[in-house]
This record gives sequence, structure tokens and C-alpha cells, in this order.
Amino acid sequence: MLTARGTLTPTTRPGVTAAGAPRQAPARVGSWRPNLLEVARPRAFITGITGQDGSYLAELLLSRGYEVVGMVRRTSTINFERLAHILDRITIVSGDLMDEASLARLLQQHRPDEVYNLAAQSFVHTSWEQALLTGDATALGVTRVLEAVRLVAPEARFYQASSSEMFGKVLEVPQRESTPFYPRSPYGVAKVYGHWITVNYRESYGMHASNGILFNHESPRRGLEFVSRKITHAVARIKHGLTDKLLLGNLDARRDWGFAGDYVDAMWRMLQQDQPDDYVVATGTTTSVRHLCELAFSAADLDWQSHVVQDPQLMRPAEVDLLIGDASKAKRVLGWEAATSFEQLIEKMVRADLDLVAHQLR
Ligand code: NAP
Ligand code: GDD
Repeated sequence: MLTARGTLTPTTRPGVTAAGAPRQAPARVGSWRPNLLEVARPRAFITGITGQDGSYLAELLLSRGYEVVGMVRRTSTINFERLAHILDRITIVSGDLMDEASLARLLQQHRPDEVYNLAAQSFVHTSWEQALLTGDATALGVTRVLEAVRLVAPEARFYQASSSEMFGKVLEVPQRESTPFYPRSPYGVAKVYGHWITVNYRESYGMHASNGILFNHESPRRGLEFVSRKITHAVARIKHGLTDKLLLGNLDARRDWGFAGDYVDAMWRMLQQDQPDDYVVATGTTTSVRHLCELAFSAADLDWQSHVVQDPQLMRPAEVDLLIGDASKAKRVLGWEAATSFEQLIEKMVRADLDLVAHQLR
């Protein structure tokens, strides 16, 4: 097979170098032979690179010897905060999920080996306020990227950021790949579309297209609107005397929360498999928002009950009450499992926010 970047044996692309060998080698590692005249670096194209996951994935791929091309949409202010430390090592290009031509042009220009579609309107609460935009970006956006890949870079392997939000009003506990979907928000509905169109392109065109059904994953880089970061950031502001109260909605909702830095490794492993497939990525434990509060406040020696106030305005029109994932397939096939516990994650986030607020006060 002759690719834009060298001659390869039939099954592979320049996807993995010795430096990129995973902790447990997936099937494809070592199965390619480089052209002796040219050892090309594998190239990855990431939509949503400015987001939480985009920044961790870019770091991971750089550490594995990839060239990283990240698509950003035009905004009136630049939002590269999460990328500042690696900005000189990645290529930033301009495009938008809403604009098919921009996607095709970028893929034509950069000829990636792997495409990670992380871009989306990803905040569930906003999806009720902007249901059409959410459908356009989070659902149809996936088809736009898939079409661009199919037409101009059909050899590229494709990753779709599917979500545990698709399980919604859960029909099975724990949730696994075969659990039927019952989405509870316009966002969840849009993700179901994105999931099935990815399966459909795999089956219709033989594309190497995989879905990662990722359960909630957080980090110090999490957006401030998501509940984990909203809490840890408030803890830091309360500790530093900047505020006293934290308004929250449903404290009884339970989520399977993991660390984003662990989860991007599962994305990469999916694209190193000979066969595309769908995988649940989760920790297998579940915790309530209430317990998250207890833990986060106590990490700063605070009593959560003195500060948290429930606000009915923050309740959702339809709630996802319980998520807990069974990631045994990811463990068996990909050799992946979560390395960071929930307690370690919350501790890490509280520490980071205490440092951040202290720094801002200096
Ligand atoms: P995030 O922090 O909200 O990042 C979303 C990214 O999408 C940002 O880079 C954003 O760009 C970009 N984006 C939004 N609309 C776009 C458009 N029209 N064109 C181009 N780019 C656009 O989300 P995340 O937590 O990193 O999650 C990554 C993906 O995984 C998302 O698809 C999310 O739905 C999915 N997911 C996340 C979780 C989780 O717990 N984090 C779990 C399951 C699935 P701007 O910076 O310009 O806004
Ligand atoms: N955001 C937020 N703000 N959530 C709150 C609040 C609050 O003040 N109070 C309670 N919650 C509850 C929500 O009702 C929900 O049950 C839970 O906290 C988690 O909310 P989020 O952190 O906003 O995450 P999410 O579960 O709705 O969605 C995230 O995870 C999905 C995977 O399951 C997002 O990252 C999605 O993009 C992702 O697909």
C-alpha cells in the first residue's frame, strides 16, 4: 500500500514507533515495516483540540512520536490555555464542524493517519437551551467529519467521542457495549446519532471507525461549568475567602468519574487495533454528587454542608440518575484500565484549584 507518506506493508500505517509502544502492546505494534529511506512520523488530526480531552490527547500523541494537527474554530479571543505548554509542537489549523468544506480541505492538506473527532457542544445543560445547535454540531458534525474522511482520506482511522450519556435512563446496570441506549437530553440524543452513523460508515464503507463510549472524565483542565470542576474551583475560592456559598442542582445523581489523562490512552489504543470496534471506557465505580462535595471540601479541611446550597433552577428537565460502566472489553482487548481512583482525582483537582486561585490572588 502506498500512502502519502511512505511505502508500508498491507495492514498498517506508520502508526506506532518503539517510543510509542503502549504498556501492553496492541496487536498492530511492530507489524509495520518502514521505508528504509524515510521513517515518517504518524500524523493525527484532532477536532476539539482546545477542549479538555484534546489537550491530553495531543500530549499523549506527541509523547508517542506523532505529528499533531489540531483543528480550532474561529473565535474573537484565542482560547489556547490548555495547549500553551505544547503549542510550539503542534500545528493549529482553522475549521469548523459546521463547515464541511473546511473539514475536507484540512484532511486533504494534512493527510492524517488517524482522525480523532472530539469536537462537540458537550455541555448537557446547554443542550436544552440550544437543542438545534447541539444536534447540528454533536450529531450532524460527526457525519460531516466522516464524509470528509471517506472522500479525501479513506485510509485514515477514525475515532468518535461517544458518551455514557447515551445510556440515560439506564436499562442495565452496569452499562456495557450491548446495553440499549435511552438518552435523556438533546445532547444524549445527538450522541446516539453520532454513535450509530460511525457504526454505519464502518459497515457501509469498511472504514476503520471506532466509538469510545466514555463515561464522565475530569481533570484540573475540566470546564468550570461541569459539576466536578464547579465544586473543586468553589472549594478553592471558599478556602481563600473569595466566596462562601456554592449553588448546586441534583446532589443524588451518580456518575462513574475517571481521570481524563487515563481515558485518552484508551482512545489511542482503539485506533491501534487491526479491527475497528466500540468500547466502554469507565472505572466501574459510581459516586453521587453529594459524596463528591464531601470529598472535595474535606480535601481543603472544609465542611461541605456549611457552604453548599441546593438551587431548584439548576435541576435538569430530565436527569440521568445512575451511570456505572463495565469496561471489561477495553481491559481484555485494549489492555486498558483506569489508573487513577476517584479519590485521587478529586484530590488532584482540589490541589490544582487551590494553587490556581492562590496564583490569581498574587
Ligand atoms: P470540551 O472540553 O467541551 O471540548 C469540546 C471541544 O469541541 C472544544 O475544543 C470546542 O472548541 C470544540 N468545538 C465545539 N463546537 C465546535 C465546532 N462547531 N467546530 C469545531 N470545534 C468545536 O469537551 P471534552 O470534555 O474535551 O470532551 C471531548 C469530547 O468527548 C466531546 O465530544 C464530548 O461530548 C465527549 N465526551 C466527553 C466526556 C467527558 O466526561 N469529558 C464523556 C464522554 C464523551 P472551543 O474551545 O472553541 O469551544
Ligand atoms: N453541571 C452541573 N452543575 N451539574 C450539576 C450541578 C451543577 O450545578 N448540580 C448537580 N449537577 C449534576 C447534574 O444534574 C448531573 O447529574 C451531574 O451533576 C453531572 O453533571 P455534569 O458534570 O454537567 O456532567 P454530565 O454527566 O451531565 O455530562 C458529562 O458527562 C457526559 C458523559 O456521561 C459531559 O462531559 C458530557 O459531555 C459527557 O458526554
